[in-house]
Amino acid sequence: MADRYLHLTGTAPGRFLTRRLGLPQPAALRRWSLETPRLDGPLLHLTAGDSAITDELAKALAATGLTVDAQAARPAGIVLDATGVTSARGLAEVHAALHPVVRSQAPGGRIVVIGTPPSSEDHHQAAAQQALEGFVRSLGKETGRGSTAQLVRIPAGAAPGAAESTLRFLLSPRSAYVSGQVIELTTAAPDPEADRDAPLTGRTALVTGAARGIGASVASVLARDGAHVIVLDVPQAQDDLVRTADRLGATALPLDITAPDAAARIAAAAAPDGLDILVHNAGITRDRRLANMPAERWAQVIDVNLDSVLRTTDELLTSGALNRGGRVVATASIAGIAGNNGQTNYAASKAGVIGLVRSLGPRAAAEHGVTVNAVAPGFIETKMTAAVPLFIREAGRRMNSLSQGGLPVDVAEAVAWFAQPGSAAVNGQVLRVCGQSLLGA
Ligand SMILES: NC(=O)c1ccc[n+]([C@@H]2O[C@H](COP(=O)([O-])OP(=O)(O)OC[C@H]3O[C@@H](n4cnc5c(N)ncnc54)[C@H](O)[C@@H]3O)[C@@H](O)[C@H]2O)c1
Repeated sequence: MADRYLHLTGTAPGRFLTRRLGLPQPAALRRWSLETPRLDGPLLHLTAGDSAITDELAKALAATGLTVDAQAARPAGIVLDATGVTSARGLAEVHAALHPVVRSQAPGGRIVVIGTPPSSEDHHQAAAQQALEGFVRSLGKETGRGSTAQLVRIPAGAAPGAAESTLRFLLSPRSAYVSGQVIELTTAAPDPEADRDAPLTGRTALVTGAARGIGASVASVLARDGAHVIVLDVPQAQDDLVRTADRLGATALPLDITAPDAAARIAAAAAPDGLDILVHNAGITRDRRLANMPAERWAQVIDVNLDSVLRTTDELLTSGALNRGGRVVATASIAGIAGNNGQTNYAASKAGVIGLVRSLGPRAAAEHGVTVNAVAPGFIETKMTAAVPLFIREAGRRMNSLSQGGLPVDVAEAVAWFAQPGSAAVNGQVLRVCGQSLLGA
């Protein structure tokens, strides 16, 4: 459904009127396209405190394709290396580095603060590094004009190149609707990528719930990045599913993900080479307040959104159908973080997905060489949200730092980043794609 307010504020009279009324001023977001693959301007690399990763970080920033310019008057990207900030006093250097430049950033810019995991042994270091989280989340709310701010934690002993895929994603138009996020990397070495423009070449991906909405967009972005995609949806959605498959040169697999033989049928569809990327996107809502909710509605939501995710992941991992170097990406929701009136079943299922990801991620990496992450979408413009009553829909759209809803492609770009071979150090993470929604913030 079109966001007419966003259109209105994009016109001069509309901007004038809405400013006078003190209404939100959403900026049109610049998303990835062949014509605009990069941010529009140079990158400023700043440091606060004594960093041990300056050279490694410079290499990773060079890999973004942006021009790194220490004198950039109007930077599109600003990266502040704050890994060396280990005390409350040291935070003054964070202020000193960003205060003079933050105002000059180009619209639609990106600020990425690099930190390191808070220590369980040094509470001064932990306080300073945790402080960066509050700092970045506030900055995301202040920047405006379609700009975003994130914190990436790089652990001591990180493998060379471990942060590259993450910085490429965050410092690009692909992360347009991601803000106020904290991403904590592991020390895992990136898997090699033969072709940076098509990093999923030679990989097979399966996307559930791919006949429409976010799933169709995920399938499309994974195909764009070179993957062979198998699109799965319920048999009732077969016509849409086949249309999606034909458009992408994908394989259609009409199948209810809750079927007892779902994992076996997925494995068969991916044979003989096996599956590299498993995207659990299928999801349903059956809203009612708990007092009015029959057991059947509860069970349907838990079964589709959580139990089938657990079952198929377990079976595909243990049977070896999911290849080493594989990626599992599940779909949570900010409702699973903040809770939502009338959605005890849905929020429970989506919070369960977060539990699954955090627990299985480290073990799946150690035992199978597979990462497990989740996206947590906020308000995304799809058929699901078009059905929401007008006033609640408007509130959902505006109550975030970017004052607008996201598009399916915003979620899809995040999934594609998790799926990259270069993202081996991204594991057990839940990335909110919500424009920094106030819900559950
Ligand atoms: N749209 C949003 O704002 C939003 C926000 C947060 C989370 N999400 C989550 O993102 C995912 C996609 O949402 P969407 O808005 O594109 O929804 P959608 O309803 O447009 O699409 C969901 C797809 O899943 C399929 N599906 C449902 N049950 C299935 C089953 N048993 N087996 C196979 N396929 C099944 C449906 O047929 C449909 O094609 C869901 O998990 C949803 O909970 C969406």
